[in-house]
Amino acid sequence: MYNNFEELSKACESCTKCGLCETRHNVVVGVGNPDADVLFIGEGPGENEDLQGEPFVGRAGKLLDKMLLAVDLDRNKNIYIANIVKCRPPQNRDPKPEEQEMCIEWLRNQVRIIKPKIIVCLGRISAQKLIDPNLKITKEHGSFIQKGNFLMMPMFHPAAILRNPNQKPEAFDDFLIFSTLSDCRKTNL
Ligand code: URA
Ligand code: SF4
Repeated sequence: MYNNFEELSKACESCTKCGLCETRHNVVVGVGNPDADVLFIGEGPGENEDLQGEPFVGRAGKLLDKMLLAVDLDRNKNIYIANIVKCRPPQNRDPKPEEQEMCIEWLRNQVRIIKPKIIVCLGRISAQKLIDPNLKITKEHGSFIQKGNFLMMPMFHPAAILRNPNQKPEAFDDFLIFSTLSDCRKTNL
């Protein structure tokens, strides 16, 4: 158990619990405001993230930032962004179930300290690990699902949107739904 976010991040930065530690350049712990109400969770670092030590800094990250900006969210202000696995899987392969299982304890600790109200799962890997192993992102993206103390929403992964630009309008709609409903909750409307 960690007392504060800094202590947790420091410990995570030197983690060697799974094989991904052998090929990584940096542990990508997360970025943002640890007091945020909203936590975004992706899959795992890609090449740029591994080199820079920050999540979502490549092309997909630029698109994510754009969609966030449209609903007044900003990684440097009012959200926190993390991943299921904190080290880059070689060649950007999917993180293996055992790697996810090893790493998820870091995320659990992050959630304990951040205490977000809403958790957005970016993409299939994140949504299946955190919401439901059988979740179909094409069907359930943009819907709020109550899980324990959290409202969870699966969304398309920004890298998937780049591969399928025809998903862009739906993806933007999800952000608008997210924004409207989360505002209503804040003001108890
Ligand atoms: N894709 C992810 O899932 N996470 C990142 O940090 C970058 C790309
Ligand atoms: Fe540790 Fe997670 Fe990195 Fe594996 S992926 S070495 S569990 S921080």
